[in-house]
Amino acid sequence: MKHQLTQKFNDIYSKEARHAYFSPGRVNLIGEHIDYNGGLVMPCAITFGTYLLINPNEDNVFRFRSLNFDENPEVAVQAGYKKDGDGWYNFPLGVIEHFTKDGHQITGLDMLFFGDIPIGAGLSSSASIEVVMAYALNDLFDAGYTKLELVKIAKSVENNFIGMNCGIMDQFAVAFGEKDKAIVLNCDTLKYDIVPSNLGNYVLAIINTNKSRKLVESKYNERVEECQAALKELNKALSINYLCDIDTATFNQHKNLIADDTIRKRAQHVVEENDRVKLAAGALAANNLAGFGELMYASHDSLRDLYEVSGKELDAVVEYAKTNPNVAGARMTGAGFGGCAIALVKKDEFDSFSKELAAYYTDKIGYAPSVYQSLIGDGVGTLLATSEV
Ligand code: GLA
Repeated sequence: MKHQLTQKFNDIYSKEARHAYFSPGRVNLIGEHIDYNGGLVMPCAITFGTYLLINPNEDNVFRFRSLNFDENPEVAVQAGYKKDGDGWYNFPLGVIEHFTKDGHQITGLDMLFFGDIPIGAGLSSSASIEVVMAYALNDLFDAGYTKLELVKIAKSVENNFIGMNCGIMDQFAVAFGEKDKAIVLNCDTLKYDIVPSNLGNYVLAIINTNKSRKLVESKYNERVEECQAALKELNKALSINYLCDIDTATFNQHKNLIADDTIRKRAQHVVEENDRVKLAAGALAANNLAGFGELMYASHDSLRDLYEVSGKELDAVVEYAKTNPNVAGARMTGAGFGGCAIALVKKDEFDSFSKELAAYYTDKIGYAPSVYQSLIGDGVGTLLATSEV
């Protein structure tokens, strides 16, 4: 009875919940702003995530409840659904819309969601809720989709229903993550390796800057467009589908094709970051945490200077990390513009790291960060008994 969700479901609906599902959030170890450029990323699922308790009802209505939000919308079952403002329930509603458009008869549902992922912190709370909903509908209505198809549905909801032109990394990671493993995913071919996360005597810290993220969607979509512009310029001489189809050496030979300085910087980040992921995978496999950490720092610097998606809050975390000999590496994770950073910290020194970082950050930024020791968990699944939650 971790969160007493079963009891809460009972209180709200005066019925026992019959089905329960969980989908995690994710952190990305390295490979940022790479997925929509067809390259390599290295995310893992975390143990924080979204719980969904759900019962079909006979009332032809979708009842959306969440312990995280006050709105309790009800939507009548109909032939199609449209995004409604910025409410949280657009994410599950978008999934219902997708299944319905695909010809599945999705009938009334009583739902209770609860997420213990800090919302809007760049840990993929939206992919988590989309994937848990898609997984639940697939199970309850025997829709017969594979897990990869569910990932693609969730991404399509985010792109077409919500309006964020994200790549596939987040939905993939929260669906395919495995305990104590990282995923090395090729976002073009969708081939992937599940590799041991091998952190040795280090642990992964998640540092939430607690900066409220604003305009993430529009700035994110702007970066996507900038990469498309760079690709177009490079294709005056090359013939590539994605920026990540070339390595740094090839980019350097052709970068002058890109006239605009900003667009060239964006492309440089993408190409070099993709090369860094290859090196990082090798470093992790060889238990070379120091080497892995250096690549994390290089990734952050590039996101700050070339891709310009960091900010003073994320930079403050990384600046502090660089002064602490017990930290192997640190970087922002996710889209950026606020949100979370991650750091590899010596296990026995986690408490002092956490305290010193909080003091440094608070002094510099004016409010405190939240620091968690993150565990790497499993991807989406059914909870065997509703009493698990
Ligand atoms: C967000 C998007 C992902 C990815 C990251 C940046 O999390 O949803 O698709 O692009 O940003 O790496």
